[in-house]
Amino acid sequence: PAPLTVLGLESSCDDTAAAVVRGQTVLSSVVFGQTDLHQAFGGVVPEIAARAHAEKLDICVERALAEADVGLSDIDVIAVTSGPGLIGGVLSGVMCAKGLSAATGTPLVGVNHLAGHALTPRLTDDLRFPYLMLLVSGGHCQFLIAHGPDRFERLGGTIDDAPGEAFDKAARMLGLAQPGGPSVEAQAKQGNEARFKFPRPLLDRPGCDLSFSGLKTALLRARDSLAAEQGGLTRRDVADLCAGFQAAIRDVLAEKTRRALVDYLALAPAAPTLAVAGGVAANMAIRGGLQAVCDESGTNFTAPPLRLCTDNAAMIAFAGAELYALGQRDDLTLSARPRWPL
Ligand code: KG4
Ligand code: ZN
Repeated sequence: PAPLTVLGLESSCDDTAAAVVRGQTVLSSVVFGQTDLHQAFGGVVPEIAARAHAEKLDICVERALAEADVGLSDIDVIAVTSGPGLIGGVLSGVMCAKGLSAATGTPLVGVNHLAGHALTPRLTDDLRFPYLMLLVSGGHCQFLIAHGPDRFERLGGTIDDAPGEAFDKAARMLGLAQPGGPSVEAQAKQGNEARFKFPRPLLDRPGCDLSFSGLKTALLRARDSLAAEQGGLTRRDVADLCAGFQAAIRDVLAEKTRRALVDYLALAPAAPTLAVAGGVAANMAIRGGLQAVCDESGTNFTAPPLRLCTDNAAMIAFAGAELYALGQRDDLTLSARPRWPL
């Protein structure tokens, strides 16, 4: 059968996105970020986010259709993030998708945002189930065994902050631009990771759970004691702090991955694979740490291209196609679920 053409919508956090995906081809993927709207507030403001999503969704959809060179009548399925996330934003997307579905009679599929991230490696790499997924973003950090498009087994996750959130807070502490991950990574490249020794939380405990909030406190202390000693931070200090901080996150993620792999490999998968997704998967040092751990057990390592790692609607469209193929159909009663574990 001809592959389905799916329109995807995403508005669960601070990116408004629409995309058209046909089979494994991304025909278009439009993302309007809101970073500048929230910059002055030191974090995403839910009301501002919801308003911006409501304003931008229509034009985002129009642009995605135009770039894909298709009309609404060419769309077989409309997929929308229906949770988890900020309720106002998720509602904006769900309302928009329902309106389009009702007006055109096109089937509607509600998608879990996390499933969108977790299924991305099947869009880009044809990955077979079961694979091990490390989802690391600004809001999430968990190890999942993906058994099917609607079947994920959680092995562990963060008990406090997500790494992306930690990177963002670190950047704020050091006066670097948001989003913090790319800023800290750029600084870390110039820095010496051995100068400051940051803690590796929870490594002494069994299992795959992680913690990042103590790391943030350790960074704050190191910064303040340097500032007290010298009256301020040099560029060298900032680079070294970033390098040490990033190395701690890299090491914790690598060690917990080593443990998650033990559980996963016990399933004797035919082609063992670790896939990463989420914005933090863009970090090259972290990727390097994960690659090294995979090499130890002959596990394949795959990471989607950066534009599909961070929030986007192509992953929602693709996940929607997978769920539609399994028979999922939603209607105008589809509701927004701000909390929705996989
Ligand atoms: O997946 P995503 O776009 O949104 C969420 O669902 O959270 O991830 C955004 C997060 C931000 O916290 C950002 O700082 C982080 O991903 N990030 C990075 C890098 N690029 C983005 N963290 C570390 N290194 C990077 N290069
Ligand atoms: Zn996300």
